[in-house]
Amino acid sequence: MSLKEQIDLTKLPKHIAIIMDGNGRWARQQGRNRIFGHTNGVKCVKTTSEACTELGVRYLTLYAFSTENWYRPAAEVSGLMLLLLKTIKAELKTLLKNDIRLRVIGDMSVLPKGVVKELNEAVANTANNKRMDLILALSYSGKQEITNAVKKIVAQVKEGKVEEKDINEDLITNNLYTAGIPDPELLIRTSGEQRVSNFLLWQLAYAEYYFTDVFWPDFKQEELYKAIVEYQNRERRFGKTSEQLVTK
Ligand code: IPE
Ligand code: IPE
Ligand code: MG
Repeated sequence: MSLKEQIDLTKLPKHIAIIMDGNGRWARQQGRNRIFGHTNGVKCVKTTSEACTELGVRYLTLYAFSTENWYRPAAEVSGLMLLLLKTIKAELKTLLKNDIRLRVIGDMSVLPKGVVKELNEAVANTANNKRMDLILALSYSGKQEITNAVKKIVAQVKEGKVEEKDINEDLITNNLYTAGIPDPELLIRTSGEQRVSNFLLWQLAYAEYYFTDVFWPDFKQEELYKAIVEYQNRERRFGKTSEQLVTK
């Protein structure tokens, strides 16, 4: 049976989050510069999005650029921004054709104006698409997201819209960038690193983590299927015992 056939479509994760890592090392292995790695990484964004759409995954969140990534060499940062700009322009048609809604999470205010404009247009043009939400984490930091949520809630308290007794997990969830999006059930990180690097700290509280040594530009459809099959073989206990899960 192929890996794809092993996937139980009735038990798909609704939301998959991916830390796309290893572009630089992939490029170095072939004696090329880091941007070459990022350019090839974009191809895997496309194949992974299409594979998720085809399977019926409802939300796909991709970590494309962290707030910490701003501290990389200026040439790499500008190369990444240019690549982002070109990719959004070139792929809008594909998003529309595949009924994919583009969303962005992160601190948009620090992205180059041209990139923000292109992103806003693509987000607006795809806003009514229904098949899958493709969520790009750009200039994203989980700690910053939670800090912002706290500030928003304090402002609501000051305005008298929220009382202390209303402060609960749902209120915090609803003040994150990801408000309205269910938490990811599966987190994938490529390139052999086993850390969360400030990604979706609140939302990943009960996700299954899947690590693979494959570098992101080598993450083909089969790698995605492998991750989903492993996810489906895990027992998600949420604090309970196995026996409780069997008897319900
Ligand atoms: C991931 O690949 C892409 C971004 C963080 C933008 P890296 O650029 O981190 O590649 P490595 O980890 O240096 O190999
Ligand atoms: C995390 O990758 C951010 C993205 C994939 C966009 P990094 O390669 O920047 O992570 P660290 O700093 O090595 O943990
Ligand atoms: Mg890296």
